[in-house]
Amino acid sequence: MQPAKHEHWSSGFTFLLAAVGSAVGLGNIWRFPYVVAENGGGAFVLIYLAIVLVFGIPLLMSELMIGRSTQKPPLMAVQQLTKGSKAQRLWGLLGWSYLLVPLGILTFYSVVAGWTIDYAIGMGLGSFNDLQDGDSARMFQELQDSPVKLIFWMTLSIGITVAIVARGLKSGLETTVKILMPALFVILIILVLYASITGDFARSFAFMFTPDFSKITPELVLMAAGQAFFSLSLGSGAIMVYGSYLTRDISIPKMAVGVALADSFVALLAGFAIFPIVFAFGVDHAAGPGLVFVTLPIVFNDMGGIGQIFGMLFFLLLAFAAVTSTISLLEPMVAQFSESGKFKRVRAAIYTGAGIWFVGIFVALSSNILKDVYPLGFIPLFEGKNIAGVIEFLAANVFMLLNGLLVALFVGWSIKRSVTLEEMGLGDSVIFKIWFMLVRFVVPLGVAFIFYDVVM
Ligand code: PHE
Repeated sequence: MQPAKHEHWSSGFTFLLAAVGSAVGLGNIWRFPYVVAENGGGAFVLIYLAIVLVFGIPLLMSELMIGRSTQKPPLMAVQQLTKGSKAQRLWGLLGWSYLLVPLGILTFYSVVAGWTIDYAIGMGLGSFNDLQDGDSARMFQELQDSPVKLIFWMTLSIGITVAIVARGLKSGLETTVKILMPALFVILIILVLYASITGDFARSFAFMFTPDFSKITPELVLMAAGQAFFSLSLGSGAIMVYGSYLTRDISIPKMAVGVALADSFVALLAGFAIFPIVFAFGVDHAAGPGLVFVTLPIVFNDMGGIGQIFGMLFFLLLAFAAVTSTISLLEPMVAQFSESGKFKRVRAAIYTGAGIWFVGIFVALSSNILKDVYPLGFIPLFEGKNIAGVIEFLAANVFMLLNGLLVALFVGWSIKRSVTLEEMGLGDSVIFKIWFMLVRFVVPLGVAFIFYDVVM
């Protein structure tokens, strides 16, 4: 079979839509607000933004550079750079990790994406109207207890992702982000406006931006770093593969800054869509993962008729954000299969999707039938983690960070400096030197420290 031709984004702007689409996801809208609430607000936000600046942007630049300079999907890209720079052959393993981590993430991400579809439809149909005390918690639990529902929605989520990715870069990915990203921004702005008019905006502002420095602990830094990596899609092949579709005339540093700014902005906006109404209605704001799925339906219900519409819009927003992320998680493997000439793109998407679906079933069953199965429970680090817990912990907390650490070392120490200089397009300027120093020393040491803390 002929290897597929490598495509390119139509413009820098479409790249930005797609990369921001990858970055903006459940991590921003579902996870960010509750992690902020659980970690005491302002202090967490401050550390989070600092980590995005010092670690996030330099790593985004590094991953984009690897993709763009080789014009290859992650595995081939890392292998080619390893060869070209006469680096130690073991670096090839990093390429494998970049290929497999997104698949691991996709297994649990698709399940949660499925919840959002269930809720968007449920809200639209009025299933969340007239909630009595405890109803919304019970309804969320019912979904978790139902293997059929969870698998059904997960299948739909994977099906949509496969259908988009199978169509290729231009008619699949680009078309999708061109429609969904503007829709996402419009919905988010409507929700923020509504929340700031009817809710307690001042308190939310103070909550998110007044740091209580006494709350800063090593655990908080760790949580903030994990959230930043996940939210920026780092260490997962998504940014690298999107970078490989960039043409030479586009500035990598500018794109990296654009992605980081937009992603952080959306995370903060999600906070301003949620906290004002949560505060105004006096429900518990530190409700953990249930903040969006248990607390918000109560608030929407209390709003009366209009709440049903805003509720549906909110979960639609989540579903859109999820799709533009799942396509970026499937793309690295599909690009690998089709550009190495193994399968045509359509088959590659279907086969990969089927594999994820199979593992996803176990993730879906982890909240009901297989709830108390702890596959690696005999290892202290994995104690109390069921199948979903193990996959999520390994993919998001271990391998994303490890990939970030290794990619910084690879770019900072192993790749030829002439390649990095050329790709950054900054000349031998101060900004280049700062970036280079960050990837050589600060990022690896910082991530190693965080990593040590997570794993040990
Ligand atoms: N960044 C996405 C989010 O915030 C998740 C993601 C991680 C997407 C890794 C692609 C790669 O939800």
